[in-house]
Amino acid sequence: PCDASVEKERTLAMIKPDGVFGNYTDKIKEVILESGFSIITEMAVQLDEGNATVFYAEHSHRDFFPGLVKYMTSGPVYIMVLEKVTAISDWRALIGPTDARKARISHPASIRAMCGMDSEMNCVHGSDSPQSAAREISFFFGEMPGGIVRHDEL
Ligand code: PPS
Repeated sequence: PCDASVEKERTLAMIKPDGVFGNYTDKIKEVILESGFSIITEMAVQLDEGNATVFYAEHSHRDFFPGLVKYMTSGPVYIMVLEKVTAISDWRALIGPTDARKARISHPASIRAMCGMDSEMNCVHGSDSPQSAAREISFFFGEMPGGIVRHDEL
């Protein structure tokens, strides 16, 4: 039951500007800890157009991309690295579907149902795969072209 040798995963969690402005940070951290994650490191960051564009590069062809970048640079975001045995899929399950309006119907206990508005203002982000988790963690805490550079803690 308590096997310390089980590999734990890390994932990147972000509270988006609507979540920070709405004062949901403490409540979301409570849910994270109640759900068995450890918070390895955390920080508030103000994204600019350049690094938001790099972070969301895979969506650059979408019609919502300019709006997404504008929204993600509208205020500070709160970044956390979460650790748990199945951190990546568990965090995605906990945040719920992209569109918070749908989340309120299909996943009423999810974080997006609690604090999101729609597909743009959906309160939180989570890495969607081990590859994304590695890229997104190094974007904020490692060295990546166009990323935020911070060397301490990880
Ligand atoms: S989709 O439509 O399946 O590609 O959506 P998804 O992959 O879940 O969304 C990718 C990120 O884009 C954001 N998004 C939007 N932003 C603004 N406007 C609209 N209409 C919109 N639709 C999706 C969405 O919040 C996802 O952000 P992250 O931070 O990855 O959750």
